[in-house]
Amino acid sequence: MNWTGFSKKSISERLDQLRTNQLLDQKSLNKLDQNEQLPLNIANQMAENVLGTLSLPFALAPDFLIDGHDYQVPFVTEEPSVTAAASFAAKIIRKSNGFKTTIHNRQMIGQVALYDILDKNKAKQIILDKKQHLLALANDAYPSIVKRGGGARELNVTIKEDFLIIYLTVDTQEAMGANIVNTMMEAIAHPLEKLTGGQKLMAILSNYATESLVTAQCQIDLRFLSRDKTEAKKLAQKMELASQLAQADLYRASTHNKGIFNGIDAVVLATGNDWRAIEAAGHAYANQTGSYKGLSTWQYDKDASVLRGALTLPMPIATKGGSIGLNPTVQIAHEILGYPSAKELASIIVSVGLAQNFAALKALTSTGIQAGHMKLQAKSLALLAGAEEKEIDSVVSQLLKEKHMNLETATLILKSLKEKKN
Ligand code: HMG
Repeated sequence: MNWTGFSKKSISERLDQLRTNQLLDQKSLNKLDQNEQLPLNIANQMAENVLGTLSLPFALAPDFLIDGHDYQVPFVTEEPSVTAAASFAAKIIRKSNGFKTTIHNRQMIGQVALYDILDKNKAKQIILDKKQHLLALANDAYPSIVKRGGGARELNVTIKEDFLIIYLTVDTQEAMGANIVNTMMEAIAHPLEKLTGGQKLMAILSNYATESLVTAQCQIDLRFLSRDKTEAKKLAQKMELASQLAQADLYRASTHNKGIFNGIDAVVLATGNDWRAIEAAGHAYANQTGSYKGLSTWQYDKDASVLRGALTLPMPIATKGGSIGLNPTVQIAHEILGYPSAKELASIIVSVGLAQNFAALKALTSTGIQAGHMKLQAKSLALLAGAEEKEIDSVVSQLLKEKHMNLETATLILKSLKEKKN
């Protein structure tokens, strides 16, 4: 498959390319062609007080090579240059054998917090003695996940200040598992009160999904950073420094991680997953040492002449359940990806995060972010100024020559363009 120049095609040419590469069947292609959206009656069942639906661009970042498989990755984002940057990075990383990922585990964690316990150490021991019984109670509360090969796996107890906290680890298979875990936690809460004499404060899933960690790595040959060897070395050094800066400075760490989530959120949203959960997990993980740090690292290996990147994140992603089956565009996203399993999808998403970070750091440590980002931002400004499709290219090219690239300038350019035409 040759994805070079995909961005320069029209929408119908892009759909043709998806057809040629058998990424979508005719029914799905028609849905995209006709811009079929989430039906209002379904939207009205998904959330409350519904008035309508809100659309966002549904795009494709092609050419990802992950664990030896090709992926064309659907993105949903309102931000210019995000999909371009990810596609750009995917191309470079593909030339260096792509991404390698490791799924460390794939389980969810729930917690019951008890209080008003006189002897917490004694209560902890009582619970641990009844561990098998409590695991069985949790599984009895959600038999369908047990039938599908999942279920409650482990139970731990911790004392934190006035609380006795019981953590349950659950294999939720292809689901994100919030409902499964919450049901199980509520099922064991009362038995835990009876065992300890304490009171339940709450029973709920934790979004700090440390039992769903995924690592993506890549190793970029320096010749793909720049044709000029000296320039490539300088860039690799600077990208390593940029990674160190995100470990050292909280202000930078926050922006560094925002860049990673530019791509992650776009795929999480496209695949119908809970992006708040993924963000919460990622930012908590960035703070795992007690000080918030950049999530990815880049190291320049002078001897091997490569730049090595790595990103580890909790990625409790689902391919079944929630709203995934309800939104037609979300179903198309899964079809484009070849209906990956939850583990495979998690690997894709973490790889996208690393790619996004690579593109941002490469731009930041070389041309600066404005050059690439503003080129694409100019299109949004032209649209905001009221340019019609046939006027966009002229407004953008003039806008890029201006010192002050803003809505006011775009409006003036469009006005003079229209005046010239009349
Ligand atoms: P370039 O070198 O001008 O790209 O970079 P190119 O024109 O040589 O094209 C190379 C490839 O990039 C293309 O290959 C496409 O894959 C892709 P081709 O298809 O031509 O064979 N590409 C595009 N794809 C779709 N639409 C486009 C497009 N242009 C190139 N219009 C590029 C241009 C924007 C890629 C580069 O400058 C870049 O990666 N910049 C970084 C942009 C970025 O990170 N944006 C995110 C928003 S900024 C932010 O919020 C995050 C940040 O604060 C995070 C942080 O601080 O860490 C920066």
